[in-house]
Amino acid sequence: MKVYRAEDYTSMSRRAANILSAQVILKPDSVLGLATGSTPVGMYRQLINWYDKGDIDFSQTRTVNLDEYLGLAPDHEQSYRHFMQENLFDHINIRPENTHVPDGLAPDPEEECRRYNQIIAGLGGIDLQVLGMGHNGHIGFNEPEEAFELETHVVDLTQDTIRANARFFSSPDQVPRRAITMGIKSIMQARHILVVVSGADKADIVRRAFAGPVTPLVPASILQMHPHLSLVGDEAALSQL
Ligand code: GLP
Repeated sequence: MKVYRAEDYTSMSRRAANILSAQVILKPDSVLGLATGSTPVGMYRQLINWYDKGDIDFSQTRTVNLDEYLGLAPDHEQSYRHFMQENLFDHINIRPENTHVPDGLAPDPEEECRRYNQIIAGLGGIDLQVLGMGHNGHIGFNEPEEAFELETHVVDLTQDTIRANARFFSSPDQVPRRAITMGIKSIMQARHILVVVSGADKADIVRRAFAGPVTPLVPASILQMHPHLSLVGDEAALSQL
């Protein structure tokens, strides 16, 4: 694991964007695994900025997102498809057909999971997977005690996660209870994993995930076993490492 310590959120975002853009420059048709949440927003903003200056070209890049809420339409303000359009895709020259997010309205979610696994396999696997981390150590929506060996599957969100994500909805009742997420196995099969963390409120879980025992109680702890892991964080988030 390589740890990159950045002074603050802006330099953390810039460092993470450096790693991602190097991937795209070296291999223009890279398959990027992308994440939502507030942490990677600054990284996406930096990439848009470099794209505007003509420094990066996404015309051949393919993307697969980690997860999506079940029950939300792609154009719902809180869907992860909408998040990706707003925070990245609408501002760069990626081809819409090259971007993949699980379909939250799929009539048969189990079938949608199988379809999603086939998409990832059909693309030849993920070159670089971006990950944020929940306060309970979840990655994607792989909550504590999730089996490590799963690929894309349907999950029930924990009360913790529903509470944490309620800030984006008008009330906690509006937060979907279920989601589709890539599993730990899908994530671990990525050739390179880039974890982004920011803020003092993540310091404790960062320590438990990266300096504690590998356990399903802290899903992100499995990442310690990955042969090519980059952890990019600001001082506040890395203060206990
Ligand atoms: C959500 C997403 C995760 C993300 C987490 C942390 O639950 N499904 O992929 O890592 O939030 O979000 P934040 O970066 O806002 O702390």
